[in-house]
Amino acid sequence: MSNPSEAELIHLFKGIPFTTRSSPELLKSLDTFDAREDDVLLVSYPKSGTHWLAGVVTKLYNTQVTLTTPIEFGDLSKLEELDKLSSKRIIPTHLDYNMLPANFKNKKCKMIYISRNPKDTAVSMFHYYRDNPNLPTIDTWTAFFDLFLRGDVVCGSWFDHFLSWEEHENDKNILFLFYEDMKKDLPKIVKEISLFLGLKISNNDVQEICKKSSFSEMKSATEKENSDSSHTVCALTSNRKLIFRKGAVGDWKNHFTPKQNRRFEEIFNEKMKLSKM
Ligand code: A3P
Repeated sequence: MSNPSEAELIHLFKGIPFTTRSSPELLKSLDTFDAREDDVLLVSYPKSGTHWLAGVVTKLYNTQVTLTTPIEFGDLSKLEELDKLSSKRIIPTHLDYNMLPANFKNKKCKMIYISRNPKDTAVSMFHYYRDNPNLPTIDTWTAFFDLFLRGDVVCGSWFDHFLSWEEHENDKNILFLFYEDMKKDLPKIVKEISLFLGLKISNNDVQEICKKSSFSEMKSATEKENSDSSHTVCALTSNRKLIFRKGAVGDWKNHFTPKQNRRFEEIFNEKMKLSKM
């Protein structure tokens, strides 16, 4: 059987590429979504550490929580499905701030935005594209590098996504986190998240959560789970190896040529000139 064509896999909504697993009808209806005040949103550009963050956040609660697939993922029935879930809902999303259902903003739901060095994000996404039949075929890193810089990949431009959220960095209901900080000092970030969510946890709990959230623990824990794709936050694959690939900081150095690095830096400096990053 031949590979599905790009048009079968990707469509544009408001100029942003989405996989066809996010139906246009669902995307159009997102603004009608009935958010609840106690919903917690986990926001990220793809491949920034969403599964890691979700792993930590779900372990912080000792009450029942439901981790859903991303809100923009599915068809129109998705909104009804989410509506049927009892609280508390932990809802991931890759939407940029402007596309986020207004209700989450009006109700001041808590949102955690996780970001990662875009060079590592690009490399992680390259591998994800390359090995995932639900995404368009990518022949080479060089080809993907160009697509990434143009924002011609799922969820659009990393720069636009980051900037749309960074504008709200000081909103009290939004916590900004970096993948690299989680790698450097996970206990500190776990405490920061629990404080933000208003959860009391002991130092022992922090240690335990960090142990269970290490790359190797999470990788082997998901391998033992049901291999249905609905069990990954991403829901574009049931292949754990694609999600828990390397889990390292700086893998970009194994992929970027010096010329690519210079070009990336130039574009980064230009696009991010008003950013504090
Ligand atoms: P790599 O492809 O660089 O290995 P997302 O969850 O947003 O799809 O991001 C996936 C990236 O997060 C992958 O990066 C994956 O390995 C990394 N990751 C997942 N769990 C992790 C963990 N517990 N610790 C460190 N990195 C993790």
